[in-house]
Parts: sequence; structure tokens; C-alpha cells
Amino acid sequence: MIDFELTDEQRLIRETARDFTDREIVPRARENDRNEHFDTELVQKIADMGFLGAIVPEEYGGREVDYRTYALLVEEIGRGDSAMRTVVSVVTSLVCSSIVRWGTEEQKQEWLPRLCSGEALGCFGLTEPDTGSDASNLKTRAEKIDGGWRINGGKMWISLGNYSKLAMIFAQTDPEKKHKGLACFLVPTDSEGFSSQEIHGKLGLKGSDTAELSLDGVEVADSALMGQIGDGFKIAMSALDSGRYSVAAGCVGICQGSLDASVAYAKERTQFDRPIASFQLVQEMIADMAVQTEAARGLVWRAGWLKDQGKPSTTETSIAKLYATEAAVSCADRAIQVHGGSGYVDDYPVERYLRDARVTTLYEGTSQIQKLIIGRAYTGINALVP
Ligand code: CAA
Repeated sequence: MIDFELTDEQRLIRETARDFTDREIVPRARENDRNEHFDTELVQKIADMGFLGAIVPEEYGGREVDYRTYALLVEEIGRGDSAMRTVVSVVTSLVCSSIVRWGTEEQKQEWLPRLCSGEALGCFGLTEPDTGSDASNLKTRAEKIDGGWRINGGKMWISLGNYSKLAMIFAQTDPEKKHKGLACFLVPTDSEGFSSQEIHGKLGLKGSDTAELSLDGVEVADSALMGQIGDGFKIAMSALDSGRYSVAAGCVGICQGSLDASVAYAKERTQFDRPIASFQLVQEMIADMAVQTEAARGLVWRAGWLKDQGKPSTTETSIAKLYATEAAVSCADRAIQVHGGSGYVDDYPVERYLRDARVTTLYEGTSQIQKLIIGRAYTGINALVP
């Protein structure tokens, strides 16, 4: 049975993450957002705390915490700044967890210690300009050459793509085989023919790096192949099982941050000679935020508990991701309402919460894709097959 009581170790890690977030992340969040600054110094501090690769076994440089504990620290970082939470989610969940699960011993030794220590960042190259939700329909091609592979193609919306030393690149080896022809390669980004370009003009996550990647005849050795030819799609989906969980946990942080900021503001702000917190319509907004925050956290913890038990968790992860991301958008929006005009400028974190939350219902699978995964699990019918 799932136990909602935290262990002493979990409490300690949550407190440590909370203190770190308040001391290091919160004070920099506004300026990094305003300046569209990807704060590599702060990323290194996060790595030094052991928060990158926290779920990775200790022998490869991780902290080897369980998924429940991982959610606690991701929630705290998500409350501070989703740009930094994105770094944790991508490096830890999408990249490290994939290498732990699918990598050879050599690949683990080569990359995991560097990723956990922050010496190298990693990115997840699945999405392409013409390939979003239909993830198996990739145009990037990998062609066998003597001793390795030559990769040609492009990737889009890749978080950390301009700063990563490692790119997980998903490519098609045989278009006739559809998703069974996909492969995943661990590509060093200093390979000849690999280049990246910054994407600007985003609504939110301005303190996070987002890239377009180009692979122009990039050659990698056979040892860069992760798993077998044909495992690519399963590697991507299993990575997203962890990544969606991490996004959901970060969104619980946005919900909690929205609630905390709203309660504080509503008690301090007076109108009609009373704190606005005493008005029923304001309390209704606060109650709605509280319910959404607790529900989102409960769903995340349930998914984490299943992962820790080694039980299937794909559907429960999609439920948590769907609910928590939509809740984060809703809570941030309500928080602005509670703050009135003050919530519309960045003196308070709530407008950034809304802008940053907005991408979470898009990336790592849109809300609509999560609904189709859930709907398929409950009905046994795949809505994507005509
Ligand atoms: N774990 C392991 N294997 C899985 C799996 C999982 N969670 N889910 C499916 N698979 C396997 C299936 O068992 C099946 O295997 P077989 O061929 O052996 O039977 C195979 O994968 C194909 O499965 P489906 O038939 O379910 O595949 P589908 O084509 O219907 O696609 C989908 C399903 C859910 C729509 C999927 O394409 C999907 O999740 N799309 C969204 C993609 C997405 O989330 N993109 C975000 C990219 S990351 C990002 O945002 C960038 C960033 O930097 C943050």
C-alpha cells in the first residue's frame, strides 16, 4: 500500500532541496528570465548538490534515490524556476535514466559520471520539425557504414541542445520497418557535422536553452548505438515515462508556489478595509488551488510509488502528467487573479509561473497525447489506428 508518510531521509532531502531553491534559485529566477540567460553557473550548483542524475546508481556518480524522493526535489526546484527544473528533468530523466536502462557498461562508464557531476549536459533528440506527437515517424536517417553509422537529419525544440556535450539522437535505419527500424545513438555534440542553433521568442522558459539541431553526415562508431537497432522507439517511450513524471513533479512545484504566493499576498493586501483573504471569492480561488496542488501531488506520488515497486506505471504517469501540468496552468492563472495588477508584472513570480507552465502541456507529450494513452489503457482501443 502506498504510504504518504515521508521517511526521515526523504524529509531531509526535501528540506535540503527547499533551502537550496530559496537560497540559490529563487533570487536569480527573475533576472535569468528577463535576460533569457541560461545560467550555467547555477546548473553547476544544482549538479554539485547531487540533483542531476539523482536516481542514478551511486557507482556511476548518482545519489541512487527512489522515484518518490526524486519527485520531492524536482517539486522544490520547479517551485523555484521551471527553467532549472527542465535541466534536471532532461538530464536526469530523459538522458541518464535511458543510459541506466539501455546503455552498455562502457556507455554508462563514459557518460553517467559526467552527466551527474554537471561536467557534461545531455539532450534528448526525438522531436523534429515535422515529427512531434507522431514520434515514430522520424525523418532523420542513420545509414550503416564500415565500423559505425552516418546520421543525417534535424531535430527541433531540443532543451539544452546548445549546451549539451551528449545528444541522444533517434534515427530511422529502415523506413519500411516504421517504428521497428528506429535506433538511438549517443552522439557527442563535438562530432563533425553536428551543429545547433538557439531558438528565441518563447512565451516562457526564457531561462532555459532550446535548440534546433542539425546532423549533416555525422559519423559515429558502432559503440554509439544504444540498445539494438529497432529498440529506438521503446527507448524513447521509456525515457518519456521518466521524463513525464519529472515534468509532473515540477508542476506540483508551480501549483504550490502559486498557492503560497497567493495566500501571502491575499493576507497582506487590503481592500474595503479588510485583507482580501477575508473575501469569499478570493478564498474560493485559494481553495481551488489547494485542491489542485494536493491532487497533483498525490497522483505524482502514486506514479512514483509504482515506479519504485517496479510495477507498470505508463498510464499512471500520463494521468499525473496530464493533471499536474493542466493544474499548474490553472493555479498560476488563478494566482495572477488573486494578485490583481501586481500579478501581471514580474515583481511576483506568478506571471512567470503561468508563462513557464504553459509549455508543460505541450512538451514530453501534449495533454491530448496523454489522454489518448489513458483512453487506450481504459478501453483497449488505440485511437491512433484508423
Ligand atoms: N515503454 C516501453 N515501450 C513502449 C512504451 C513505453 N512506455 N509505450 C509503447 N511502447 C512500445 C509498445 O509496446 C510497442 O512495442 P511493439 O512494437 O514491440 O509492440 C511500440 O512501443 C509502439 O507502441 P505504440 O503502438 O503505442 O506506438 P504509437 O505509434 O501508437 O505511439 C504515442 C504512441 C503514445 C502517441 C507516442 O508516439 C507518443 O508518446 N507521442 C508523443 C511524443 C512525445 O512525447 N514527444 C515529446 C518529445 S521530448 C521533448 O518534449 C523534448 C524536450 O527536450 C523536453
